[in-house]
Amino acid sequence: MLKEKMLKALNEQIVKEFYSSYLYLQMAAWFEARTMPGFANWMKVQAQEESAHAMIFFNYVNERGGGIELGAIDKPECKFESALDVYEKVAAHEELVTESINNLMDIAFELKDYATKGRLDWFVDEQVEEEANAAEIIGRLKMAGSQGEALLMLDKEYAARTFVMPAPLAGTTA
Ligand code: FEO
Repeated sequence: MLKEKMLKALNEQIVKEFYSSYLYLQMAAWFEARTMPGFANWMKVQAQEESAHAMIFFNYVNERGGGIELGAIDKPECKFESALDVYEKVAAHEELVTESINNLMDIAFELKDYATKGRLDWFVDEQVEEEANAAEIIGRLKMAGSQGEALLMLDKEYAARTFVMPAPLAGTTA
């Protein structure tokens, strides 16, 4: 069984992951409306990944005896200035998620909950990748500036991104 403090924090993290999914879906819509289908695809895949992250926590809490209590998901921001502005907001959001994962890790150590620490290890690595991905795209968008041709090339590249089920969910249906 999970201790109450850990369970509460994990339930909150499930909402944060679904909020991330919701935010990236909103960003996908922003790109769709500006005829940038490749960036929109990148965001939709990102939204799927975030729902998968929520499900990893959901499944984990159930494996540890349950106690899931889903909370409300906030309305995400929907107004953006440019593609660069969108990705700068992705980067800022992922930094908050990293902070939140680190906070969960602190609780796991405090409670000597090494099973939860083991599950969180995957998320610590994942956050390194998430922050690096956002930083790379920001760098590319800065290089592209307002050159339509360069932006179109990036859009084409991101159209090829596909969703891969994260390892902790491999073999499950969600
Ligand atoms: Fe679930 Fe983008 O971190």
